[in-house]
Amino acid sequence: MNILVTGGTGFIGSHICVALLDAGHQVVIADNLRNSKSQTLDRIKVITNKEITFYETDMTDETAVDNIFSNHSFDGVIHFAGLKAVGESVKIPLTYYYNNLVSTMVLAKVCQKYNVNRFVFSSSATVYGDNESPFKETMELLPRTNPYGETKAMNERILTDIARANPDFSLSILRYFNPIGAHESGLIGEAPNGIPNNLMPYVTQVAKGKLEKLRVFGNNYPTVDGTGVRDYIHVMDLAEGHVAALENLTEGVHVYNLGTGRGTSVLELVKAFEEANHIEIPYENVDPRPGDIASCHADVMKAKQQLGWTAKRDIIAMCRDAWRFEKNFKE
Ligand code: WQD
Repeated sequence: MNILVTGGTGFIGSHICVALLDAGHQVVIADNLRNSKSQTLDRIKVITNKEITFYETDMTDETAVDNIFSNHSFDGVIHFAGLKAVGESVKIPLTYYYNNLVSTMVLAKVCQKYNVNRFVFSSSATVYGDNESPFKETMELLPRTNPYGETKAMNERILTDIARANPDFSLSILRYFNPIGAHESGLIGEAPNGIPNNLMPYVTQVAKGKLEKLRVFGNNYPTVDGTGVRDYIHVMDLAEGHVAALENLTEGVHVYNLGTGRGTSVLELVKAFEEANHIEIPYENVDPRPGDIASCHADVMKAKQQLGWTAKRDIIAMCRDAWRFEKNFKE
């Protein structure tokens, strides 16, 4: 199939483009390069030996998005483009609501104009808010009080209503847990601008000596060792989950958790990283980060039963692959 991938030069999007190309699909990428680099395109081509068409595009610009669709006949879209830093979203909520909601509505509107009826939306476990783990797709959406999570929940509702009003429209909503790691080539991976918010890129930068030590946010949570527990999933497992969702897409609305179903604490991840890469990660315990929940992990049965997909790579592989990318990465 010929697929438009918005946000396709980003950490998650670039890995899905590799998986799509490896599965024999054609890929067109639209990205504004606000939080990614155009070099990623060359690296995707090196990994897959396939050509990609790229448009540097602000996804809120309907004319620009329409122009892309007028040049191609798409069988479907996978929509990653969006601002995604929780902390930043609290500081500039209007930017987040405008960018993340308008870009989705523009894309859905242009899909309707060009009769493109397969839509895969990149959502997040954040929409489950403070529900009890394991999170199930049938749970009520309770986004935690951060505008980023709210935009994910709102986009889910907008797209669900569009699908319900249009029987030809097929929508797959994929709720990610904590994607980490990198493609085994070490050519693409997670390279956040500035000081990393997320755990794994912070750990890899400590390993590289760019940062002095890891601050462990809270060590009195009701968890195995007092530190926060998350369901980390290898980004290539996540990518293969997208291909499975796209290839199994039928009319209507389908929601899937993409996780491993296993929780890992901060200290367990640090230990796994040290074992996988034979590098010590110095850390200090500091106060909990506001807005963090103690523990979350996915119920993964639905994707397994309906898509025939499960995550295969373990935490050691995630740590090893994340470090390989960091070692190769040049600013
Ligand atoms: C993981 C654990 C922290 C950094 C976020 C977004 C979510 C999604 C994934 C987009 C927690 C602890 C972290 C550090 C630490 N993004 N930690 N020291 O917060 O679970 O999820 O990224 O969809 O929407 O909220 O991921 O990697 O920031 O934190 O101790 O320097 O690591 O407290 O327990 P999080 P994270």
